[in-house]
This record gives sequence, structure tokens and C-alpha cells, in this order.
Amino acid sequence: MKQAEDIVASVGIPSQPAIMMEINDEINNPNSDLQSVSEIISRDVATAAKLLKVINSAFFGLGEKVDSIQRALSLMGLQNFKKIILSSALREAFCSKSSGSEKFWKHSMQTATIAARIAEKVGYNPLDQAYIAGLFHDCGVPLLMKKFPDYHEVTDYALSVVGADSLTGKTKSVIVVEDERYNIHHCALGHLVAKSWRLSDAVIQVILYHHYVDIDCHKDPSVRKLSAILFLADYLAAYLLYLSGGSPIDSEDEWAAMHKQVVAELEFEIEDIKDLKDEAEEQLYNFDEH
Ligand SMILES: [Fe+2]
Ligand SMILES: [Fe+2]
Repeated sequence: MKQAEDIVASVGIPSQPAIMMEINDEINNPNSDLQSVSEIISRDVATAAKLLKVINSAFFGLGEKVDSIQRALSLMGLQNFKKIILSSALREAFCSKSSGSEKFWKHSMQTATIAARIAEKVGYNPLDQAYIAGLFHDCGVPLLMKKFPDYHEVTDYALSVVGADSLTGKTKSVIVVEDERYNIHHCALGHLVAKSWRLSDAVIQVILYHHYVDIDCHKDPSVRKLSAILFLADYLAAYLLYLSGGSPIDSEDEWAAMHKQVVAELEFEIEDIKDLKDEAEEQLYNFDEH
């Protein structure tokens, strides 16, 4: 972890925008209400504009023009609002114009959306934690891209959970490849980012271990479940990446054989995984979220 901290010091963890931190604290405060959150948003022109743009977008299809912050928040819900501004903060702080960066962003949004869908299916609560874990799980990747000019050789592999290792010709975990090349892996870096951005303890933990197949490393049952959700979401998102020309991945039978603990934790059959894969392919393959 010392190495991770040194790299973080040399790359610099993008800091969470102050407004984001303030909003997050207010949303997590049990005494908060729409009015108190609205007041904070009203003081930040960019966030207020973003909220109104999203609520008036075709996605919400309201058929009325909303120009009040409080009304926009009540229509959208605080948890949805939190997801939207966290996504936007992640993109602004970590992404550049490079193609690797675009792939990272797409993979993050797809993993987040699929993780929320799985969480809903298995009745995991709080639902938004699954989305946030998916969104941030690979945020160490753009930091490695920025720090090491040759990291682009690893990007596709890092974003595909399982697959033939095109760098060595053998199947090898991406964290081993990263450790060998850079003495650091993206899970350790992502873990530090998650801590710095004050994400929940469960999210911080699952990011650190998201390439460790043994989910029993998590003692808390709720964290173990979140970890299982993230594993499956990451695999399904890697499948979508493969469809757009990324590294090949294992079939669901091969994957389930390697991830017995995950499948058991979610109480899924192979058919459930196949259904989720079809659903993701239908809804997200051409996904282009901005
Ligand atoms: Fe990863
Ligand atoms: Fe991933």
C-alpha cells in the first residue's frame, strides 16, 4: 500500500468537488430535506444548471418545463440526483479525450447500471451503493493511464475481468500484470480514491478486492453481497466491451465455474446470468451516456 500512496502522491488523486462533498453530507444527514439540499445546489450555478438540464431531458419525458431546483429534486429523488452528480464528477475529474478514457467511462457506466439491476433483482439494500460501486470500481485505471505512458497496452485487459492475457499469452489476473509492470494495481489505487471521496465503507472494501475471486475475504454479509453483485456486473460489462471489439471473455458456464461463491451468494442459476446478459446486450450495447 506504501507504493500505492507514493504513486497517488505523484499522480495526485483528483479531489472531489467541494460542492459534491457538501451535497453528499447533506443527503446522508438524517435530518436533511429537499429544501436544505436545494439551498446548497442553488448556490452552485453549474450544479443547478446540470440538475435542470437532466430533469428537462427526454429521459424523464415530463412534458412540462421544470425551472425550480426543489421541484426538480422532488421529481428526480435524492438518490437519483446523487447518482447523476457522482457520475458527472467522476467523468470530469478522471476522464480525458483519449480512447482509453472513453472506454473506461463507458465500462464504468455500464457496470454501474448492471450492478443496480442485479441489486434490484436480489433485493440488495441500499440500492444506490451497488450503482456507486460499479461506477467507481475501476477508477484506478485512468490514474495508471495518466502515470504510465505504456498503460494503454493493459487498458483493455484491465477492463475485461477474465480473458486470455494478450500480453503474456497466458491467463493471468490483471492485478498480477499491473503489479509486475508498475508495482501497483488499479484496485489499490481505486481504494484510495474511494476513501478520499468518502464513499461508503462497503464500497471502499469491494473496490479493493474486486479482482479477488474469494469473496469470503469480506466478513460482513452485506459487503459480501455487494462484492458478488459487482463481480457479476463487471463480467457482464466486460461482455459488452467484447462486443465492441474488446478482449474475449469466458462463457457464462466457465465464468460461473470459476465464481461459484458469487453465484451461490446471489442464489442465481446459469439461466439468470444468461438472462441478465441478454438484457444488458439489448439495453446497453449501444449505450452512450453523457
Ligand atoms: Fe477492475
Ligand atoms: Fe471493471
